[in-house]
Amino acid sequence: MLTTKQTVLAVVTLCTGIAFAIQVPTSDQISIASNDRSDVLPGFGGAGDEPRAYRPDTSSLDFVYHNHEDMTRYLRATTARYPNLTALYSIGKSVQGRELWVMVVSASPYEHMLGKPDVKYIGNIHGNEAVGRELLLHMIQYLITSYTTDPYIKWLLDNTRIHILPSLNPDGYAASKEGTCDGGQGRYNSRGFDLNRNFPDYFKQNNKRSQPETEAVKEWINKIQFVLSGSLHGGALVASYPYDNTPNAMFNSYVSQPSLTPDDDVFKHLSLTYANNHAKMSRGVACKSASPSFENGITNGAAWYPLTGGMQDYNYIWHGCMEVTLEVSCCKFPPAYELRKYWDDNQLSMIKFLAEAHRGVQGFVMDPNGGPIERAQLKIKGRDVGFSTTKYGEFWRILMPGVYKLEVFADGFVPRDVDFMVVEQHPTLLNVTMQPSKRNDGPYYRPVQQPAQSQYRPQIAAPGGLPSNSINGSPADEGILSTLSNGFNSLVNNIFG
Ligand SMILES: *[C@@H]1O[C@H](CO)[C@@H](O)[C@H](O)[C@H]1NC(C)=O
Ligand SMILES: *[C@@H]1O[C@H](CO)[C@@H](O)[C@H](O)[C@H]1NC(C)=O
Ligand SMILES: [Zn+2]
Repeated sequence: MLTTKQTVLAVVTLCTGIAFAIQVPTSDQISIASNDRSDVLPGFGGAGDEPRAYRPDTSSLDFVYHNHEDMTRYLRATTARYPNLTALYSIGKSVQGRELWVMVVSASPYEHMLGKPDVKYIGNIHGNEAVGRELLLHMIQYLITSYTTDPYIKWLLDNTRIHILPSLNPDGYAASKEGTCDGGQGRYNSRGFDLNRNFPDYFKQNNKRSQPETEAVKEWINKIQFVLSGSLHGGALVASYPYDNTPNAMFNSYVSQPSLTPDDDVFKHLSLTYANNHAKMSRGVACKSASPSFENGITNGAAWYPLTGGMQDYNYIWHGCMEVTLEVSCCKFPPAYELRKYWDDNQLSMIKFLAEAHRGVQGFVMDPNGGPIERAQLKIKGRDVGFSTTKYGEFWRILMPGVYKLEVFADGFVPRDVDFMVVEQHPTLLNVTMQPSKRNDGPYYRPVQQPAQSQYRPQIAAPGGLPSNSINGSPADEGILSTLSNGFNSLVNNIFG
């Protein structure tokens, strides 16, 4: 199993009878997580292998479109009825004053569970892409009614806090029309801004004025450290993963090039998890003869078409949150009688995708007294997009099975490297104890990467924002050329999701 010559210090036998060798780095601990997936994940023979068949509870939530008032009423009624599993909050208001509601569904809705991940779904960032908005309402209903009957859902809610924002663009939704499959009416917020082009961008300067809806998301994800996220769109059928933008978008306006993250294996896996559990997505059939087909139902964002100011790149680079854009319907706003079918197609994907937050490594960074170290900077060696600890010293990183090195930096402490291994069956628990640095130890190396000359390498994400110097390796970054390619992108916007 291990191909390296490092000493194997522990052999752990799982309940499946398979033995795994685990390397235990000196003075750090790895153990089997209590939220072991081996009795719930497919192929391991446990009781809750798969979510159970679910008959939608249409007496509480019908398959029709819910306007803002109906949606608000449903969310309020649901928290009143399920106070132990749900909490409703607003992250702010749209331009026209509609609340941006978030429903938390979890066994601990009001409080973060120490060591357990927070995840999110965002729907309807494009106001006329309406299917995701309804899917998210139905997912709330599914989760709360299955908690007591389905061991898989119980496990998920006992170990995860799921935040669901059904509509990030309620004003755009109010301006769009059922039955309209294409076009841009209702796509934008009420001031005409495309919210998925409104975030700070790592590759290009984004001069768009930041909108209240965007600001609300930025504050939200700054407060809660999300591990995994899905953003639901319509107008195509594909899971599209970062990066959406590229350092050299000028020349690939006609032939788009992939722009891959150092976590490409993870993003592909997350996207495939969605596509493979979907009724049709993985077939990769084009929506129309003129639109692209996607092998296995997934694509790199920039390889499809590059865009500036997207939400998923922002989540990943600024906050270490892995977000995937999920295009769930060829028709942006199909007639309501088709909603049931969309639910059936997406139900399993939506659950399995979130469960992926329990893959990889997680743990705490602490001082020698066991006190948490907040905002320690972490990086998986060879993957130069960083992440940081919460105020409780927690961290999470989704990784595929393999052997890795975690690099940890914290102000006032001696930097550390810790080797660890990730297996398929459960997350690796890894606590890292940092030793205070002595005053005369001098300034330690800080993990700021310089962009390689010819090849783009992202810098470590700093909490609260990136270093302001953006990549200047390419002439396409500059003024007019960048404007040109942005113009092309906005043309493409109205065609695709
Ligand atoms: C909520 O949980 C508490 C404690 O577990 C329990 O006593 C109470 O009955 C629950 N309430 C509802 C409405 O399920
Ligand atoms: C890691 O640290 C946390 C927080 O101090 C503690 O609750 C947990 O038991 C530790 N895990 C291991 C494997 O030591
Ligand atoms: Zn969209």
